[in-house]
Amino acid sequence: MDKLFLISEINRLKQEKNAIILAHYYQEKDIQDIADFVGDSLELSKKAATTNADTIVFAGVYFMAETAKIINPNKKVLLPDLNAGCSLADGCDPVNFKKLKELFPKHVVVTYINSSAEIKALSDWVCTSSNAKKIIEAIPQDQEIIFAPDKNLGTYLKKETNRDLLLWDGSCIVHEAFSLDKLIEIYNTNPTAKIVAHPESERHILETAHYIGSTSGMLNFIKNDSATTFIVATEAGILHQLAKDAPTKTIIPAPSHEDNTCACSECAFMKINTLEKLYLCLKNESPEININEELRLEAIKPINRMLNLS
Ligand code: 13P
Ligand code: SF4
Repeated sequence: MDKLFLISEINRLKQEKNAIILAHYYQEKDIQDIADFVGDSLELSKKAATTNADTIVFAGVYFMAETAKIINPNKKVLLPDLNAGCSLADGCDPVNFKKLKELFPKHVVVTYINSSAEIKALSDWVCTSSNAKKIIEAIPQDQEIIFAPDKNLGTYLKKETNRDLLLWDGSCIVHEAFSLDKLIEIYNTNPTAKIVAHPESERHILETAHYIGSTSGMLNFIKNDSATTFIVATEAGILHQLAKDAPTKTIIPAPSHEDNTCACSECAFMKINTLEKLYLCLKNESPEININEELRLEAIKPINRMLNLS
């Protein structure tokens, strides 16, 4: 379908249906450009919690739209493609998670927002990459903690908070793919560059970083830091916002292991959404996210705890 047609129809349907489009920085650039709000996971959850729109179109992955529905049971929440999963959410199943909890019944459970409603319902706290440290630090020092599902974020938090977290063995397939050798090679040819990395990256990548933070954290750092060149270890979608926010800075995407041609990493789940699917889902009001009310009432408790602290 013609891009100009899609853009004008999406804008028309948005008005007609009092809909808001929320997009993550990892979405393709046309989707970011048409969105009413683009942000990181925490900002998107906060926006979903305060919007007056009747319909939320979530241009992101399933767990994000599901979280928006948990917060807004009376709003219609749409996701352009229901197959937009996440290796972290998909790698943490409720049956085995429950077994882990049963083995450590006194542990407090802190769960990354990249998880299913079922896992959230089994948790005490939800966190995102931008508030995980704050949430761990809000839990009494002598309280033992299970952290799931991201072992890389968990390892980073162990070091940052000096706490011995019990970690679930999950990871993000995108952030786990960065090549340390290639990163060092690029750094050696750009020795004044600063390395910024998302905390879902592996420990050896994070150890090289001058700054570690969420997508919004990285954007703010690059915008405000005096360096002119940055090597960025996160999903390539962030480059679009960086070009807008920091047009004078030179941005070098950190390369991944397999990637010899494009030198950047893309999340196939995030990129499953297209402008055309966004248009069709707004037009047809489908696919829609629905959630069992009993499950929702359990899953919202740790989310609200997070939102109240953030
Ligand atoms: P943030 O939005 O918290 O930076 O997390 C990135 C991510 O991987 C979302 O899936
Ligand atoms: Fe999940 Fe990683 Fe994709 Fe984010 S980038 S949606 S954590 S697989």
